[in-house]
Amino acid sequence: MLSKKSPKSNHNKIVPNHIAIIMDGNGRWAKKRLLPRVAGHKAGMDNVQTITSYASKLGVKVLSLYAFSTENWKRPTEEVDYLMHLPTNFFGKFMPQLIQENVRVKVIGFTDELPPYTLKAVRDAEEQTKANDGLILNFALNYGSRREIAAATKAIAQDVAQGKLTTDVIDETLISQYLMTASLGDYQDPDLLIRTSGEERLSNFLLWQLAYSEMVFTDEFWPDFSTDSLDRAIAEFQQRQRVMAD
Ligand code: FPP
Repeated sequence: MLSKKSPKSNHNKIVPNHIAIIMDGNGRWAKKRLLPRVAGHKAGMDNVQTITSYASKLGVKVLSLYAFSTENWKRPTEEVDYLMHLPTNFFGKFMPQLIQENVRVKVIGFTDELPPYTLKAVRDAEEQTKANDGLILNFALNYGSRREIAAATKAIAQDVAQGKLTTDVIDETLISQYLMTASLGDYQDPDLLIRTSGEERLSNFLLWQLAYSEMVFTDEFWPDFSTDSLDRAIAEFQQRQRVMAD
């Protein structure tokens, strides 16, 4: 669990190249304030920009955010509807800033199952930022890791059946190339996973890619997760790297 002490400076230390975040606790953040759950998602959306901007400043290469899981369809219709409109709202509000900060947007997940307006918002954002070569802001939308692995397995089997591959070339590197994170190249696997709101589970997020990642869990709800909180998580990561090197 992350300590509440003030962070030591992260300057001159190794910053994780790829940070993945399970942004949990929007509903509880809202409940604590007697607000509707969607107010928590709105505050969570605004915090995505704050954390993206700061991660970009720190020199992080990839920020993967779990925005909507394949399980989230089970939530009440109005909440799902609100979540599906978040990409339109987010890019409508923050696109100029993302472009100014040289951020490139990418999306992983079963995107063909998203409503057309959600898909359009994310594809437009990918298109508008495709020339940017700074931080990759990688949204996981309608994403589930076991299903991703099953789909990769099926694609490999099809390529074998069609004679494009032989079974002896199937290894860890090849499997990684069939996963949705393949386009992240050298940074496919997160160095650091953060989950907010006190839960300590992976919830079907990047199971293959997180095999060697450091994990940091914090009690803060996602809308309260600040730039200082990110500094603390990175300091914890650096401390663990140092201990391993000793
Ligand atoms: C989990 O909190 C959070 C989500 C299911 C949604 C996360 C989405 C955002 C933070 C905004 C994403 C922004 C864009 C641009 C797509 P919860 O609702 O499960 O909280 P609870 O556990 O306290 O109920």
